[in-house]
Amino acid sequence: MPSKPINTYTVALMLSFTILVLFLSGFLEFPSLATSVRSARGPGISDAAAAPDPFTDLVGAFKKWDSRVGCARFRERHGGQLGNGFNRSASPSSSLQVGGDGESECRELQLSHVSVLVKGWTWIPDNLDNLYPCRCGLSCLWTKSPVLADKPDALLFETSTPPLLRRNGDPLRVYMDLEAGRRRSGREDVFISYHAKDDVQSTYAGSLFHNGRNYHVSSFKDNETLIYWSSSRCLPQRNELAKKLLKLLPHHSFGKCLNNVGGRDKALSFYPECANDASVTPKWWDHLHCTMSHYKFVLAIENTWTESYVTEKLFYALDSGAIPIYFGAPNVMDFVPPHSIIDGSKFSSMEELATFVKSLANDPVAYAEYHAWRRCGVLGNYGSTRATSLDTLPCRLCEFISKKGGRNARAL
Ligand SMILES: *[C@@H]1O[C@H](CO)[C@@H](O)[C@H](O)[C@H]1NC(C)=O
Ligand SMILES: *[C@@H]1O[C@H](CO)[C@@H](O)[C@H](O)[C@H]1NC(C)=O
Repeated sequence: MPSKPINTYTVALMLSFTILVLFLSGFLEFPSLATSVRSARGPGISDAAAAPDPFTDLVGAFKKWDSRVGCARFRERHGGQLGNGFNRSASPSSSLQVGGDGESECRELQLSHVSVLVKGWTWIPDNLDNLYPCRCGLSCLWTKSPVLADKPDALLFETSTPPLLRRNGDPLRVYMDLEAGRRRSGREDVFISYHAKDDVQSTYAGSLFHNGRNYHVSSFKDNETLIYWSSSRCLPQRNELAKKLLKLLPHHSFGKCLNNVGGRDKALSFYPECANDASVTPKWWDHLHCTMSHYKFVLAIENTWTESYVTEKLFYALDSGAIPIYFGAPNVMDFVPPHSIIDGSKFSSMEELATFVKSLANDPVAYAEYHAWRRCGVLGNYGSTRATSLDTLPCRLCEFISKKGGRNARAL
């Protein structure tokens, strides 16, 4: 049979080829060669061919990323010409109010001192009270005290409505609504909300949204339970979505909704190092940041999905050194650092999303890439997101009020 020797030859050839492929793909680990073969494939974002590595050490993953990818490449891809991604002259994202370049703006100020009196019950934390030195030599007194601001330039209302009328010489009426619906009161002279189209924008990316936390960040990442979730307002839509994803991935759910850790307030028994001041009864939010840091991923689902409504749920996760898996504002990418979050709505199915999450969990280099923005200082729009947060609201509001002339502004 003439075909037999050919077959034998072919089989032998195929065998050696298979061995070569296995060898090159690192499937057969030849200790002395495996490393050089892998690095010969070159540094890159997706290292899909590498053997799964369910790593637990985040700092170790960073080191691997440094040697395989590195900041220079990351900046090339995401930083533009400026290292940190800030470029004031580039057309800023329309999702964020970006401050002007100073001098021309300074000329528009009519008052060099502005005082704002915060009225009634509000979410605004007490420690925002301060005397702020602002741009252009402006000073800004922001206070809840009618004693310190006995003749305020503006009154700020959040949960109550401003007075119906304002006469000449009365303080300006400021109304703030950071909820998804962002409804004007119809009585305000200045409207503050989370959208760039509002008079003064205030994003949720402020440190004031997490006062009094335990900021310990764990370098140890759980490599079995991949996802942290905590929600105690069990809205049907959010619950359904969470259920669909979480059934595909090992997770801990600490809140009331889909709780699987044996009850509420269990985080401290899992992670005692997350306790705050021992003399104070712990509140559930005290250890949020620290607890999240033990997981590779944090699921963040907004209660309402609407443009620019990106809340602290996302920023907590980002701050804690986890990768947020986000469902919410369609333009979320305008608010976050480059390559920092997973936008769940961009996947065609939960199965596809779950497969992607697992592949990152098993690939320290690809995982570390999601933290590169912070380590390399490539902020992109996130610089502006933070610059327009509640933290800087006092100066930005005082500038706005000064431009209007404060109490001297003509009543409409
Ligand atoms: C900033 O953005 C502008 C407009 O997109 C561009 O022409 C310029 O080269 C950028 N500058 C730097 C330093 O990246
Ligand atoms: C998690 O990491 C440990 C230590 O590196 C390892 O022994 C274990 O097999 C990993 N778990 C999974 C699910 O791979």
